[in-house]
Amino acid sequence: MSRWRALAALALAALCLAACGPRAEFHIVAGSEQKSLEPLVMDFCAKQNVKCVIDYKGSLDIGQMVGSADANTIDAVWPASSLWIEMYDKQHRVKDMKSVAQSPVILGVKLSKAKELGWATGKPVEWVKIHDLPDYVYFNHSAHVNHGVGCIECHGRIDRMERVFQAKPLSMGWCLECHRDPGPHLRPKDQVTAMVDTQTSPEIAEDLVKQYGIHNVAYMTSCSTCHR
Ligand code: HEC
Ligand code: HEC
Ligand code: HEC
Repeated sequence: MSRWRALAALALAALCLAACGPRAEFHIVAGSEQKSLEPLVMDFCAKQNVKCVIDYKGSLDIGQMVGSADANTIDAVWPASSLWIEMYDKQHRVKDMKSVAQSPVILGVKLSKAKELGWATGKPVEWVKIHDLPDYVYFNHSAHVNHGVGCIECHGRIDRMERVFQAKPLSMGWCLECHRDPGPHLRPKDQVTAMVDTQTSPEIAEDLVKQYGIHNVAYMTSCSTCHR
């Protein structure tokens, strides 16, 4: 398309938006972390003559919303991390996902403290991957989190770690130990991020296994479940 035709189309769209009754509304659901960027978004919307409405929600709520029928009421999602979309967007409703910023792990550190810790190198902070399975192992977060396996089961008390470390072996034996009898490790889905140990009684365990439709032991321990 020539530049002129593109410009003409844009002008037409702007005209229509201005003249076709009430302004179009654009509904964004965003993580509360994004609040500081709101003026930028609103400025953009004003220039487009679109009425933008931003709803701030927690990351888990955004993930669950994308995975539910409520998704139809949203025009765009803007979570703090794509992890939440990857975990909950089972129906692939989000077609195009772009990172607008890398959220830094550390926003501000006292220079004296950074020097004390040997961090004041002048180089940017790097992402250090702590949990890393070999490539021949198939792993999938959503299969776990959507079936009531809490983060704490595999990552431990992240909330109490001054520095993140690998709390569990992540070995084949360890994976299998739970896969043989997952019931006692399950919890209600709205508690997957809770940093408390499961207190799942045998009755509740049995109930959750049924409710989540957990596969039988043969499937859960079959080589091809984890090596595809
Ligand atoms: C069943 C175990 C299990 C559960 C439950 C689980 N994770 Fe993980 N997580 C892993 C494994 C294994 C890896 C490494 C994956 C790889 O190397 O492919 C990982 C990697 C990660 C990473 C990247 C970490 C790094 O060191 O770079 C993040 C972030 C993460 N998980 C967050 C979460 C959150 C948040 C939850 C809960 C909502 C969760 N995980 C639940 C097992 C789990
Ligand atoms: C604390 C319990 C627990 C631990 C630890 C665990 N898993 Fe799982 N895993 C589950 C549950 C529960 C499911 C859901 C099973 C289902 O959908 O029937 C699951 C599902 C899976 C699936 C998807 C199976 C499918 O086809 O739907 C894979 C792959 C998997 N786990 C790999 C692993 C690997 C690899 C590890 C070790 C690094 C691991 N899991 C550790 C409980 C666990
Ligand atoms: C629940 C997930 C799971 C199942 C089921 C599973 N594995 Fe594994 N397997 C793993 C993980 C995780 C590792 C990597 C362990 C590590 O890095 O310490 C692994 C590693 C291996 C290795 C490499 C061992 C080594 O020392 O280098 C072999 C071989 C293997 N598995 C074979 C099998 C066979 C055969 C089966 C079926 C009888 C099987 N696995 C079933 C998760 C699984």
